[in-house]
Amino acid sequence: DSFVFGHFSTFMKLARDDNKLIHDKCIDLDFGTVPNFSGRMVTLIHVHVCLVNCAVFQEILMSPKYTKDKNFHKSIFNLFGERFLGNGLVTVIDHDLWYKQRRIMDPAFSSLYLRGLMGTFNERAEKLMDKLSEEADNQTEVSMLKLVNCVTMDIIGKVAFGVELDLLNKSSPFPRAIEAVLLGLIKHARNLFFEYNPKNRAFIKEVREACRLLRTTGAQWINERKKAIENGENVPKDILTQIIKSAGQGENTKDEEVMIDNFVTFFIAGQETTANQLSFCIMELGRHPDVLEKLRQEIDEVLGMKKDVNYNDLGNLTYLSQVLKETLRLYATAPATTRDIPEDIMIDGIHIPGGVTFSSYVSSRMEKFFKDPLKFDPERFHPDAPKPYYCYYPFSLGPRSCLGLNFAQMEAKVVMAKLIQRFDFTLVPGQSFDIVDTFTLRPKSGVLCTIKHRHSD
Ligand code: HEM
Repeated sequence: DSFVFGHFSTFMKLARDDNKLIHDKCIDLDFGTVPNFSGRMVTLIHVHVCLVNCAVFQEILMSPKYTKDKNFHKSIFNLFGERFLGNGLVTVIDHDLWYKQRRIMDPAFSSLYLRGLMGTFNERAEKLMDKLSEEADNQTEVSMLKLVNCVTMDIIGKVAFGVELDLLNKSSPFPRAIEAVLLGLIKHARNLFFEYNPKNRAFIKEVREACRLLRTTGAQWINERKKAIENGENVPKDILTQIIKSAGQGENTKDEEVMIDNFVTFFIAGQETTANQLSFCIMELGRHPDVLEKLRQEIDEVLGMKKDVNYNDLGNLTYLSQVLKETLRLYATAPATTRDIPEDIMIDGIHIPGGVTFSSYVSSRMEKFFKDPLKFDPERFHPDAPKPYYCYYPFSLGPRSCLGLNFAQMEAKVVMAKLIQRFDFTLVPGQSFDIVDTFTLRPKSGVLCTIKHRHSD
């Protein structure tokens, strides 16, 4: 009946200590003081809170107080002096600006709108199937992480910004730029002095250039869309249109910056975590043939030999939902959410100083909450199983929880269903199953597989 939370770096460190069972004591070792993103020193804490009376969770993550009083901050704005996510939806602190953006963005995530994206999800996933078919014919080793990353980036490019990236067939600077900025974030979070070490100069230059590339691309795509709107063209009601609406359409440079902040935010948040979830999922299925077999049976039953996955099929793929949820239990690809608190507060008799991190990654690996926690077992998410309240929240909780949850899981289901329907995959022996922490978590090996066709046409 206890819960643990502390500062961001603690969990990042735990995440680096790959695949360890996390005991409460492990947190004790990290008690101390660390700099947070804004450079203020905050105390690492481990606090015990009753799981069924989770006052701290409710107060900080979920209560209206959090959104109204502006007391609890998230803080990533710049990266090595370059404006990065700024006041985009994930990082914006000002309540009124957040509320306005979130409300305007909502329609692009409504179930009606998401239904309309099924065609694009299918079409882009189909391009991956074509690629895998070639790889199967050539019997080459492939990195599933790399391939699914191309698909999720293609999807966000198309559905959010109306742009054809076709990364499975064309080279592009975006995948490396996103990798560099995420790596930059984690290096900065772990060591505030990273920036001042001459040894890191080349990397920092790369990160700054990556920030600039993402932001100039954003500015260009936003301007093109604004022109189309001004010319009365019929533009999609996609994320880009909502970004323009949410920032206002004046010439105010502040508005311009916020639009670009949101472009970068959605370009990154909209694909990276999903690609990592998909590749961890493939990795675990490769290690658990029994789970894979059961999943195959469900997919064959629901889809048969038909090519596209429709919206109703998603509801019938219940075991696939369980597998995806279990993947995020062991591998919360966005492992933690952090809040800076300007002054010490007391909640339910608990003294909370500085900053707080809530980590689904950590609690999902605790024996206290999950029996045999390192075992990959999708039965934990059987519809009749008890719900893991407050110890499993890979999309965070409360008003600032993930706006893209349904988007991400619909997309993930389409890709996984097609993949398993068509192909057998085997993990290349000897590869590592370690996790790398590049701000988000991803599989170190890239999930190397050999692919075979399941059915000969
Ligand atoms: C916020 C996880 C996919 C858009 C968050 C947060 C988490 C999360 C933990 C809270 C971050 C924080 O409090 O600091 C995930 C995971 C995903 C995923 C695990 C995939 C497996 C997506 C996608 C989109 C998206 C596909 C958009 C297309 C957002 C946005 C927020 C957010 C806009 C900020 C919400 C707000 O503050 O109001 N996500 N996400 N996410 N996510 Fe996701």
